Amino acid sequence: MEKEIISWIYEAAEKIKTGLGSALKVDEKSDRTDLVTNVDKEVQNFLVEKINTYDPDAKILGEENGLDQTPIDEGRVFVIDPIDGTMNFVMQQENFCIMVAVYEDGIGQLGFIYDVMRDELFWGGARVGKVFYNRKEISVPKNKQLKQGLIGMNAALYRHNFHHAQDIGNKSMGIRILGCAGLEFIAMIKGTQIGYISMLSPWDYAAGKIMMDQLGMPSYGADQQSLTFRKRELFIGGTEAAVREIQAFNQENQ
Ligand code: IPD
Ligand code: CA
Ligand code: CA
Repeated sequence: MEKEIISWIYEAAEKIKTGLGSALKVDEKSDRTDLVTNVDKEVQNFLVEKINTYDPDAKILGEENGLDQTPIDEGRVFVIDPIDGTMNFVMQQENFCIMVAVYEDGIGQLGFIYDVMRDELFWGGARVGKVFYNRKEISVPKNKQLKQGLIGMNAALYRHNFHHAQDIGNKSMGIRILGCAGLEFIAMIKGTQIGYISMLSPWDYAAGKIMMDQLGMPSYGADQQSLTFRKRELFIGGTEAAVREIQAFNQENQ
């Protein structure tokens, strides 16, 4: 299965690069900074077609084209974010990813995050028992504390100190705001960031969470509960040490 998914992702990336070379049709969703392009929709349709041909019984949870309500916990579910970081895609023409995940009855099996312009694919999970950067196996990142590393954040959470994001950031070596959840997950998996705090939808964290689980890196949602895969929700994840510190700080400062 992983071989097929990787080939679809590479093919989708070519479509995205071609799309960058022609006039983009950019629409606003909930507000002027919430963008979707014709390429987001076309890439999702392309991946949906591939999945339907490969496994007609599978269900699909995807950000675009009305597929955003599929439950995660019934049968095999493919989760798609065709372009993660659409604002970066439109404004920077880089720093965006394709993300695909596979869940079976709610259990994560495989996650894929492809940084299209850097040609860097991070993939793996329980089904293969490993996580890879392209063909190279990734080793478990060092279990660093907050004070030993950089932490990724969502700008609004940081600005308003929601969930003590600013206070937690102040305990770290510094914060980073990349505008692309996939790149934040890549940074945690590579060990260049020790955590990530954001408000995310299921397709934003589905692939990254599977790879973090495989590497023994915890993640959770609001009130220190499991992520629900049902809505946009608080996401906190990182090294075991950093996440425990964040949990303790949030508990002490409720
Ligand atoms: C967004 C990006 C962004 C994160 C948002 C996501 P999109 O995804 O990952 O970094 O802060 O929460 O919605 O809409 O570009 O696929
Ligand atoms: Ca996204
Ligand atoms: Ca997207």
